Formats: sequence, C-alpha cells, structure tokens
Amino acid sequence: MAITDSEIQSVKQRFGIIGNSPLLNNAVSVAIQVAPTDMSVLITGESGSGKESFSKIIHHLSPRKHGQFIAINCGSIPEGTIDSELFGHEKGSFTGAHEARKGYFEVTNGGTIFLDEIGEMPLGTQARLLRVLENGEFIKVGSSKVQKADVRVVAATNVNLMRNVEDGKFREDLFYRLSTVPIYVPPLRERGKDIDLLFRKFATDFAEKYRVKPIALTEDAKALLLQYRFPGNIRQLKNLVEQISVLSTDNKDINSEILQRYLPKDSSLPALYRNAPADKEGLSDRDILYKVLFDMKKDFNELKKLVLETYPNQGKTAQLVKDHPGLFEGVHHNSAEVAEPVLLNVSPAQTVDHDEEIHDITHETEDESLSIEKKEKELIIRALQKNNNKRKYAARDLGISERTLYRKIKQYDLEE
Ligand SMILES: Nc1ncnc2c1ncn2[C@@H]1O[C@H](COP(=O)(O)OP(=O)(O)OP(=O)(O)O)[C@@H](O)[C@H]1O
Ligand SMILES: [Mg+2]
Repeated sequence: MAITDSEIQSVKQRFGIIGNSPLLNNAVSVAIQVAPTDMSVLITGESGSGKESFSKIIHHLSPRKHGQFIAINCGSIPEGTIDSELFGHEKGSFTGAHEARKGYFEVTNGGTIFLDEIGEMPLGTQARLLRVLENGEFIKVGSSKVQKADVRVVAATNVNLMRNVEDGKFREDLFYRLSTVPIYVPPLRERGKDIDLLFRKFATDFAEKYRVKPIALTEDAKALLLQYRFPGNIRQLKNLVEQISVLSTDNKDINSEILQRYLPKDSSLPALYRNAPADKEGLSDRDILYKVLFDMKKDFNELKKLVLETYPNQGKTAQLVKDHPGLFEGVHHNSAEVAEPVLLNVSPAQTVDHDEEIHDITHETEDESLSIEKKEKELIIRALQKNNNKRKYAARDLGISERTLYRKIKQYDLEE
C-alpha cells in the first residue's frame, strides 16, 4: 500500500516534524506503513536526529493507541535493576525487594514499549527480551511462573548495533528480530534545505519564548550552515538557535561572521572533547587539551614500542636508540640492550630481556593511567557540579552514556 504525499504531510504536522527532504519523508512513510501491524521496529539514526517522534507515530497510528505508551531509556537504568524494572520481581528476590513489583511489560499490556538506547541493554536482559518478542512470555525476577504479555516493542539506537553484535555485546538473534522493519532517521547534514526550515521554525519559537524579535539568516550565513556537519543534529541546531536568539540582542540579521562565532571551532574532535562546553565552571579548553595530549602521548609510546619491536636488524635498532637517546627514553632500561628482544626467533635469554622491556613500558603506562584516572575523576566532578548533579546532563556533557557515568561514579566513590 503506497502512502500518499498528503498523508505524509499530515502526519508530520500532527507530530511536529519539520522538514521535507526525501530521506525524511521516506522514514515517515515507513513508519505509517508499519504502524498498524504488530511488528517490532528498530529506529536508527545519529544522536539528536529526531528518533523519538517516530516511536510516537508508530504507537498512535496503531490499534494500540488507546493502550499505554511507555518510553524507557535502557542507558539510564543501572544494570542491576533493569530486569526487575522491565519484567518485575517477586518479594524477597534480592536484597531490598521488600515488595513484589510489576514490570513495564506487565503494566503496558496491550500497549507499546519504546526501548531507547537499546544498544546499552545488558546481555541477560536481551535474552529475556528475545523471549517476550518470540512468544510473548516472561518470568519475573525471582519467580518461576511464566507470564504472558501482549506488548509491542519499538527500539531505538544511535550506535551501530551490528558492530555491537560483532563485539559480542549484542545478541545477533535479537538484532535480526528487532530490525525486521528498520527506520533510518537521516542526519541533519543529509537533509539539505530542511536546515533552513528548521532554523526558521526554531527562531520563531524562541522569539516567542523570550519575547524578542526573531533572528534571520543572511544568504552567506545560510550557505555556511548548509556546510556545517552538525554532529549533534537537530538538538544541536535547536540549541544554537536558542543561544543566538538570546545573546544576539542588537543584531537580529545573522550573517556568516556572527554565525561562525556560535559554531563550535572544531567538530572533528571525538565526542568527549567536542561536547565539553568551554565555560569557566564547565570543562575548560585546558582540560580538553590536557586529555588530548595525554591520549597522544600514550599513542606515541605505543608507536615507539612498535618501531623498536619491528625494526628488522638488531644492530640497526641499537644504533637507532643510540642516535635518538631522548626519543626512546623510558621505553627501555638500557639502550645497548635494546637490540636483542626485537626479533621473532628469540633465544630464552633474549626473551627475558624482552619481558624486562615490556615490564618497563607497563610501568610507565601504569603511572600514566593513574594520572588519566585522576583527570577523569576531576572531569566527572566538574560535569556533575555544573549540571547540579543531574547525571543525564553531566553524561551528555562528557559524551558518555548515563550507565557509564553511573559506573564511574561508583568506581571513583563520588556518590553523596
Ligand atoms: N524534524 C523535526 N522537527 C522539529 N523538531 C525536531 C525534529 N527532529 C527532532 N526535533 C527536535 O530535536 C530534538 C532532538 O530530537 P530527539 O530527542 O528525538 O533525538 P534522538 O534521535 O532521540 O537523539 P538521541 O539518540 O540522542 O536520543 C528534540 O527536541 C526534538 O523535538
Ligand atoms: Mg532519543
């Protein structure tokens, strides 16, 4: 059944989806088609690309629309409690389980569960999920009674789940089960003129919210915006428009020069560095630089080690170390001993040297990782302070998942 253009337009309007690019329209069309079925759907797309609305379209255009819709972020539930949250538990099934509790699959019976950040789901929970998807059965934690659930599952992820499968972090059978109908939400940079439409919509919204005149882009600024990569997609564009709407009080015509000042300087840095705000209370540029340098130093040491290990001729290796005494300092005890361990056919005596050499390097890396840990702890404390202990936002600033942050808070004993 082909979906008409007017159907697509009316659904976008109903769910507040701005944009008219073919990739976006295609995603909406797939959502409309799959909605009335009971099939599981996997929504994929980069962070901030607008996946959430698609889960709502699927629920509200389905016969389950009068049932419940629950959205659960798998990344924000601690690993120890996620089974019980989703499937419930019996009284006394673990320390602190004073009462029996119903899980989301029980209370959402007849409705839809949206499992956001599905890539963060622990393997044990994945097994339970697969069972409920295959035959509608689940068992509460601490129980032996099989229960039935009639729940539709819509999942979303901003990571490459196939890679998680390859890394053994995600069950392959579950991956295929979930992705019978995949919906791909395109990144903003692939939506062409939608950027301009979204900019204008957000400019009007924020002008109303802050009671200011709406900002508008000059032609050269539009061109600049179209070239920008938008790693944070629509969420980033929205924040950008809000920032300019509030801060550019005198000038509401935004040209490329003004716009440039609001765009992050370097979007090629990895997420952890890129997402870090550069204000005084937050993670300063210095912090970011410090961490980048640390990582670089680690890489260099690895490279030095590799050079020595792969250098083809013993005599030459010794010469190399002699010629560059500073360069290989710390990588070996004694440059004269360096030559022996590097060949593949090593005698037992040489192996000992080799071990020594490795030991020495490990030593240095250990010291370094201690400093990195110290720095990481500091970064986490600052991110938490800046976000009033709101882990969700602190995690976002740090470019890590909430679960990882939760683990690190425990690791560094930062709980209050
Ligand atoms: N097409 C759109 N029109 C208007 N607003 C949009 C559109 N797409 C997304 N947004 C807005 O952008 C923001 C980010 O969208 P959303 O939360 O759905 O991203 P996401 O894909 O779920 O990201 P993440 O993977 O980080 O959870 C929200 O405020 C949403 O309302
Ligand atoms: Mg989301």
